[in-house]
Amino acid sequence: MKAIVSATYGSPDVLRLEEVARPVPHDGEVLVRNHASVVTKALCAARAGNPFMARLHFGLTKPKWTILGTNYAGVVEAVGSSVTRLRVGDRVSGVNVTDFGAHAEYVCAREDGVIVPTPANLTDSEAVAAFDGSITALPFLREGARLQSGQTVLINGASGAVGIAAIQLAKHYGAIVTAVCSTAHLQLVKSVGADEVIDRTRDDFTRNLDSYDVIFDTVGTSSFGRSRRALKSGGIYLTTVPTLPILLQMLWTSRVGRRKAAIVFTGLAKPAEMARNLASVARLAESGEFIPVIDTVHPLEHAADAYRHVETGHKSGSAVITIGTAN
Ligand SMILES: NC(=O)c1ccc[n+]([C@@H]2O[C@H](COP(=O)([O-])OP(=O)(O)OC[C@H]3O[C@@H](n4cnc5c(N)ncnc54)[C@H](OP(=O)(O)O)[C@@H]3O)[C@@H](O)[C@H]2O)c1
Repeated sequence: MKAIVSATYGSPDVLRLEEVARPVPHDGEVLVRNHASVVTKALCAARAGNPFMARLHFGLTKPKWTILGTNYAGVVEAVGSSVTRLRVGDRVSGVNVTDFGAHAEYVCAREDGVIVPTPANLTDSEAVAAFDGSITALPFLREGARLQSGQTVLINGASGAVGIAAIQLAKHYGAIVTAVCSTAHLQLVKSVGADEVIDRTRDDFTRNLDSYDVIFDTVGTSSFGRSRRALKSGGIYLTTVPTLPILLQMLWTSRVGRRKAAIVFTGLAKPAEMARNLASVARLAESGEFIPVIDTVHPLEHAADAYRHVETGHKSGSAVITIGTAN
């Protein structure tokens, strides 16, 4: 099968299209003929081996997993023994969080892993986009913020994959959403449900004193220190970007003060929990309440371009890789 292989750490130039052995489904696994994947910031870090801390997980001197890619969507082509729920021909979407392999024509996945039937109204490209930022945004809003109906939430970095998903999920929970993004993306964030928008190139949301129950900084560009004054008493600041200050602030504010800081490590969630989250988003997508947003589409052979695009830090929604006869 064709796959994008990264045998060494480095720039997107290390990515090579190669013929590799097709994986074989083991007991409890299905083989999926894969039609689509996405490129994320986390995958860029895995490919580059940067920040260096990332190598403690991905491999100290060279990548442990040479085929990157977490999200996939396609059709079950074969099933291993003791698979009972999925059948050959089923359309499925999933996320291989720990062992990657989704930038390839075929992917193996556990039937009881992070995999769901693809919503009938979504193409495979739309499915990988639907399960891109949402699997991060959902635990941040539900467990991290314990978001309640009627609360005010500000989403910084609202046009990114996590931000676009956060707007839609926060609306689903009944929150009043303010989205912060650049001028070019104002219309997009309104179109997915933001009640109010702030153009970050003109206004500074941190001047809106005592205004928000939740500030979700999806890009980590506004620190807790700056954002604090915009939180209501009892409010919480959440960021996706782990830094030493936020870890210390999380510890400190858990004991002292009326305004909290927190981070959630969504990649550490148990597969069963992730699968439930995927199923929740699938239901919302099926009903039309959650709309996947695709920024750019890159055929597998040009995966390196997708990585270059994601590294600009200015994409809106998802950068999708299409594979074979993708739709
Ligand atoms: N903790 C976790 O478990 C976890 C899980 C997944 C992802 N993450 C992290 O979450 C972050 C966001 O991921 P993503 O996929 O949403 O990224 P993304 O799709 O690349 O989006 C980034 C967005 O931020 C906007 N932006 C850029 N500079 C900004 C600034 N100074 N202020 C406000 N907005 C700015 C960009 O649009 P404009 O420039 O046009 O405004 C862009 O739309 C990444 O750092 C990723 O590593 C963490």
